[in-house]
Amino acid sequence: MKEHPEASRRGFIKKLATTAAAVTAGSSLIAADNKGTFHYLKQQYNHIGANDQVNIALIGAGGMGSSDTSTALQVPGVKLVAVCDLYDGRLADAKKRWGADIFTTKHYKEILARKDVDAVIVATPDHWHQQISVDAMHAGKHVYCEKPMVHSVTEGPAVIKAQQETGKVFQVGSQGVSSLGNEKARELLKAGAIGELNYAEGFWARRGAVEVWQYPIPEDASTQTVDWETYIANAPKRPFDSKRFFRWRNYTDYGTGMAGDLFVHLFSSLHFITGSMGPNKIYASGGLRYWNDGREVPDVLLGTFDYGKTQVHPAFNLSLRCNFVDGTSGTTYLRLVGSEGAMDVEWDRVTLKRNKMIDNSDPFYIEKMRQMGQAQSGRKHMLPPEQIVYDAEKGYLGGPYDHMNNFITAIRTNGKVVEDAIFGYRAAAPALLCNDSYYKNSPMFWDPEKMKTLKS
Ligand SMILES: NC(=O)c1ccc[n+]([C@@H]2O[C@H](COP(=O)([O-])OP(=O)(O)OC[C@H]3O[C@@H](n4cnc5c(N)ncnc54)[C@H](O)[C@@H]3O)[C@@H](O)[C@H]2O)c1
Repeated sequence: MKEHPEASRRGFIKKLATTAAAVTAGSSLIAADNKGTFHYLKQQYNHIGANDQVNIALIGAGGMGSSDTSTALQVPGVKLVAVCDLYDGRLADAKKRWGADIFTTKHYKEILARKDVDAVIVATPDHWHQQISVDAMHAGKHVYCEKPMVHSVTEGPAVIKAQQETGKVFQVGSQGVSSLGNEKARELLKAGAIGELNYAEGFWARRGAVEVWQYPIPEDASTQTVDWETYIANAPKRPFDSKRFFRWRNYTDYGTGMAGDLFVHLFSSLHFITGSMGPNKIYASGGLRYWNDGREVPDVLLGTFDYGKTQVHPAFNLSLRCNFVDGTSGTTYLRLVGSEGAMDVEWDRVTLKRNKMIDNSDPFYIEKMRQMGQAQSGRKHMLPPEQIVYDAEKGYLGGPYDHMNNFITAIRTNGKVVEDAIFGYRAAAPALLCNDSYYKNSPMFWDPEKMKTLKS
C-alpha cells in the first residue's frame, strides 16, 4: 500500500512522511504540521506471474460464492472451470453467468478429483466449511473459505492441521482485512495516533426482511431440485424444509447467527489492526424481539469481550452489538478508542478524531485552572485538526478485490496470506463462543494464544 504523495481533497498538499512523523510524535506536531484534513489512500498492484493461469472452482454458488467468483475473475490470469451446488437453479445460473462450458455438479468431491482445478472457493453455509476445506487441501487444492472459518469452536484445529500438513494456501474470506482502510488503521494505531487503545466497539443495524435473512424461496424448491440428503449429511436428520435450505442463517444446525455472520468480520479487522490474538473472556446477551418466523437465533445480540494485556497491545474491552429491528437500518461501524483520540475504520476510509482543546472561555474551567495556579494568558491557542479523514482514491477496487488478489498472489509465489487458518480460527472462536455464552447464559473463557476453551 502506498499513500498518494500529494493529493488531498481540499487542495491541501501534504506529504505522507510529514503526517506520519507528526502522528508519531503526538498532538502538538499534528497541530503544527498538519494543515490538511483529507488524505487519499492508494493501492498499487503487482500482478506477479499473471501469465501463470490459476484455475478455480466454486463450491456453493449462492450470493457470496458468486460474488467471490466474479471478484476472482477480475484478477489477471484467473479462470473458472467448475461449479458445485446442491440446487439445480444455482447450477443453471452459473452456466448462464460464466459459460455453458463450465463443469457443474452437486458432488464437491467431483470438483476435488479434477486435475485442472488449482484452487476452490468454499462458499457453502457454515456447517460445511470445515469438511470441504479439509478434504480440498488433502486433495491438493488451495482454499479460499468464506467466514466464519468453522461452524463450531471444536472444528478449528482440524482445518489448521490440514493446512499445516498439506502446505496449501488457505485463506478465510473476511475481505476487510486486506483493505486499504484496515492497513491504514493498523499503521495509525502503531504510530500512536489515538494514544493507548482502551476500548473498541462495533455495531450493525438492519431492518429489511432480506437484510435480516428472510430470503426468497424459489418456486421450484423440492427434493427434485435440491440435494437435501447431502445438505444434512453432517447435521441432524430432518425431512426436507425449504426454509432450512434457503434461509439457513436462521437455524443453528447450519448457520452461526449474528455473531458468526457479522461479529466475525470485526474480530478479523480488529485482530489485524491491533495484532491481537483475541479476547479471553466473552459474554453475550440479547433476545428474539420481532422476527418470530421460526428462527432459532436472536435478532438483537450484544457481545462483550475482554482482551488482556499482551506484548503488542494493552488490555482493552470490546463491545459488539447487532440489531435486526433497528429503524435506523444501515448503520454499521467499527471504532477504536484510545487515550488521545479515536478512529472509525471502514474498508476504504479511516476517520481519525483527536482530543479537542478545552474551551478556555468556560468560567468553571478558568476557575479550576486559577486554583491550580495555571492562569490563562488570554492569548488564543493554535488548534490541531479535530478530524483527519484518510479516503481511498476514486477507482479503488476495494477490500474484496485486494483479499482475492492476495490469495491468488500467494498461490503463484508460494507465499503467505494474513488470514490463514490460525488467524481465521482466532477470529471465528470468539464469535462462536459469543453464541455459546448466549445459549448457556454464562461467560465463556478462551485462551487465544493456545486456542483452547477454558472452563467457565
Ligand atoms: N465475506 C462476506 O462478506 C460474506 C457475505 C455473505 C456471506 N458470506 C459467507 O458465505 C457463505 C455463503 O453465504 P451466502 O449468503 O452466499 O449463502 P447462499 O445460501 O446464498 O449460498 C450458499 C450456497 O451453498 C449451496 N450449498 C449448500 N450446501 C452445499 C454443499 N454441501 N455443497 C455444495 N453447495 C452447497 C447452496 O445450495 C447455496 O446455493 C456463508 O458461509 C456466509 O457466512 C460471507
